[in-house]
Amino acid sequence: MKKVRVFAPASIANMGCGFDVIGLALDEVGDILEITQSEGDGLTITNRSNVPLPDDIEKNVITPVVRSFLRRIGKTAQIDVCICEKIFPGSGIGSSAASSAAAAYGMNELFGCPLSEEELVLCAMEGENLASGGYHADNAAPALLGGIVLIRGYEPLDIVSLPVPGNFYCAVVHPDIVVATKEAREILPKAVPMHDAVRQWGNVGGLVAGLYSGNIDLIGRSMQDFVAEPYRKQFIPGFDELRKKVLDSGALAMNISGSGPSVFALCDHKNKANAAGWVLKQHFESLGIHSNVYVVKVSNKGAKLTGITI
Ligand code: HSE
Repeated sequence: MKKVRVFAPASIANMGCGFDVIGLALDEVGDILEITQSEGDGLTITNRSNVPLPDDIEKNVITPVVRSFLRRIGKTAQIDVCICEKIFPGSGIGSSAASSAAAAYGMNELFGCPLSEEELVLCAMEGENLASGGYHADNAAPALLGGIVLIRGYEPLDIVSLPVPGNFYCAVVHPDIVVATKEAREILPKAVPMHDAVRQWGNVGGLVAGLYSGNIDLIGRSMQDFVAEPYRKQFIPGFDELRKKVLDSGALAMNISGSGPSVFALCDHKNKANAAGWVLKQHFESLGIHSNVYVVKVSNKGAKLTGITI
């Protein structure tokens, strides 16, 4: 019997212009799993976190990740997973990706690291598919690898770690609004007008160039989304007015976090992130919507072991 305790961080997908292809990892906030491997063939999942989750393991994102891992390495085993800490599902900071990444990373450690980083991302994407009805890696890849990650291609998976310049903090607000990722994906049109596509890939290039050169202004002005945000912002009351207030407070950019309903402000100093966080909180309070705000550093650390028992 062997047991590992694993942490995987929260993450923010899209980073404005990078729908399904760019994501960043956040510091400290994340999921913790304990995974035990023994002889046999089966899977149990026990929830000891403060977050209510369905009892049916077929509805838990960890299940397809564990199965995909075992299928890839061609082994069977009894796997018992205990969810010790969990980001609230639907909070918009990659709750399903944190569990999926922790499960993939922990399984790899238990079996002597047979899979590459790309293969682990593919396993974690099985969890994302269960949660959102789509194979995207812009939460799972940063949750596994840390930092800011570009998914240059999906067929085959081609992952590029981008530099995290300076001292980046995100203020993230999670308003008490329900937006299911599945629904937020289904409302997107299947085709993008050429004019918007041109603006979008200009921004993706600008964001990557800004991250490499440390050009903070270029990063900020590149984080504009013409693909998903125009359709999704209807779920977030007063979105345009909120962005103006947040940018006036000193933030570099404000965008929907992944598919929402959370919104994040990227800032180049903790004090600016605190100021943006206050603006975000006030906005929803003035509309009578309860919200939670976190100010978190962008982190270079991805999934990691926090304990092993043999
Ligand atoms: N890139 C995905 C989306 C992230 O925007 O739908 C989901 O969190």
